[in-house]
Amino acid sequence: MALKIAVLAETAPGETRVAAIAETVKKYVALGAQVAVEEGAGAAAAIGDGEFAAAGASLGSRSAVLAGAGIILGVSGPEPDALGGAERGALLIGALDPVRRGAAIEAYAAAGLQALAMEWMPRITRAQSMDVLSSQSNLAGYKAVIDGAAAYGRAFPMMMTAAGTISPARVFVMGVGVAGLQAIATARRLGAQVTATDVRSATREQIQSLGAKPIFVENVAGIEGEGTGGYATETSEEYRRAQAELVSGHLAKQDIVITTALIPGRPAPRLIADAQIASMRPGSVIVDLAADAGGNVEGTRVGERVERHGVTILGPANLARSLPADASALFARNVYNFLAAFWDGDAGGPVLPDDDEIVRGIRVTKDGAVVNERLLAARPAG
Ligand code: NAI
Repeated sequence: MALKIAVLAETAPGETRVAAIAETVKKYVALGAQVAVEEGAGAAAAIGDGEFAAAGASLGSRSAVLAGAGIILGVSGPEPDALGGAERGALLIGALDPVRRGAAIEAYAAAGLQALAMEWMPRITRAQSMDVLSSQSNLAGYKAVIDGAAAYGRAFPMMMTAAGTISPARVFVMGVGVAGLQAIATARRLGAQVTATDVRSATREQIQSLGAKPIFVENVAGIEGEGTGGYATETSEEYRRAQAELVSGHLAKQDIVITTALIPGRPAPRLIADAQIASMRPGSVIVDLAADAGGNVEGTRVGERVERHGVTILGPANLARSLPADASALFARNVYNFLAAFWDGDAGGPVLPDDDEIVRGIRVTKDGAVVNERLLAARPAG
């Protein structure tokens, strides 16, 4: 019997993506698996049931696709009570948001599911093609600039017209990880003058190589704000003061500011205070990509557009969802790349060794228990 892979229709509010596309369905079939897609699963991403069927999937209701499935794929973690009929021992793969969805993770364990949280993929070379945080952040960085441009009442590029010259927009990107790099590249393509800053000094060259100008605090302890896996760490008080001062003068001259600064496991660092917003020109736009993690900007509201001192602040919650077709394609390939890397032809499915770094990073439940070190450490004591 071929291993059955179930692809769920998403039910989380606002979720538009789907965890498989026709291309990955074909690839799973080529590995010897059978794929069952829940009816309508691709609708919001413009993938019709017929396209999945043509790729070799069967279509059915939630209970029909879950019945007998050894692997269950979703984007956002499904509600546990919507998984009735799932087999004990089945792999449940998705962006499960384990820390915030602790009760759901417990319920997956109780149901005997082996839950794998894709967003906890370790940042090692072998896992790059499986990294959903990178693939989705990249799209978010692009979309932040597009949405910022749409909310801005002026043009981005310099234009010399018979009626006079339009000067280029000044864009400042704060936080130069995956999203920030794509924001820089996108703003440059639109013709803006771009500057950028980060606490990790390694980003300085990356900023320059994209044709933007780095804005960096010099000669203050804490500039090497780089921790394990290339993530940022918290900076010193002295560094934060120097950064705020440097940024204040610069912010007042910007038209569009995109903030993306995150520190894993901590609230997002506050980079822009209300007084700094007040110093900006009316009509300027701030896009706070860290809104969901507490926000880099004072006054940001998740999922809302607010005006402060004549400045528009956008706080989008999950921008990759506003590019459902591309976001699904990249997410689906990340999941396929993970499964294919562990696929064992003789076993007819993935074999996940306990001592593998990737498996240890993403596995959150096994044999009825929560097993992930990071998740257990994140729980309150007692
Ligand atoms: P992230 O989403 O955790 O944070 C975004 C950016 O905010 C980071 O560059 C961080 O340094 C910066 N930041 C934090 N506090 C700040 C502050 N106070 N002021 C200014 N900036 C601040 O980071 P992301 O996008 O996940 O990437 C971090 C690094 O990991 C990158 O160098 C990336 O290339 C690397 N990476 C490696 C992968 C692999 O090897 N498989 C996969 C993905 C990323």
